Amino acid sequence: MIIRSLGHACFTAGDGKHTVIFDPFLTDNPEAVVTPEEVRVDAVLPSHGHSDHLGDAIPIARRLGVPIIAPYELAMYCQRFGAEVVPLHIGGGTDLAFGRVKLTYATHGSAVVTDNLIEYTGPACGFLVTLSGQTVYHAGDTGLFGDMRLIGETTPIDVAVLPIGDHFTMGADDAVRAVEFLQPKAVVPTHYSAFDPIRKDPHEFARRVEALGVRCVVLAPGEEAEF
Ligand code: NI
Ligand code: MN
Repeated sequence: MIIRSLGHACFTAGDGKHTVIFDPFLTDNPEAVVTPEEVRVDAVLPSHGHSDHLGDAIPIARRLGVPIIAPYELAMYCQRFGAEVVPLHIGGGTDLAFGRVKLTYATHGSAVVTDNLIEYTGPACGFLVTLSGQTVYHAGDTGLFGDMRLIGETTPIDVAVLPIGDHFTMGADDAVRAVEFLQPKAVVPTHYSAFDPIRKDPHEFARRVEALGVRCVVLAPGEEAEF
């Protein structure tokens, strides 16, 4: 599986035949390395309604004619703006032509926040995506939670994309604990550099993960790695 960072929490996961995109925040993302028009994917997976995650999901899905896979309330929000959707909910998954997508719990809010309205879009989620027999866990925005242990016990994870930026999500200490809970084969840190309050050095985190015997790959925007 190839995981590519497109900046902030936006990543693609692909198996050479199919690709999905997580949290496609590209317009106004100071780290973005592609424009929304350059994205070619089979599905769009926004973890929650916050602008740095929902991002360009709707225009990308509409342009490509591919589904947005998201928690029900967020999916209905996207459908209202003309996107094809696959509404799921926490703990539920579905088999699609390219692989399996399952939504996991995440401890975070989810709303589309504009100048005069905060529109609730259900709970935030994480994603377990299985392509050609390999599974990536994109945790979305979340704090540490004990059921990460359960996720690790029930699903062998090839690569876990975990937030480490603190402030809005887990910081490095809790993310190291998450690695212990999840027992993934590899880890990619995320959500640590796009904005001032979350600027963190991912390499110290990477050293601590490697000390647990788990591969940790820091991906700068535009970089990719094979797992
Ligand atoms: Ni958020
Ligand atoms: Mn965020």
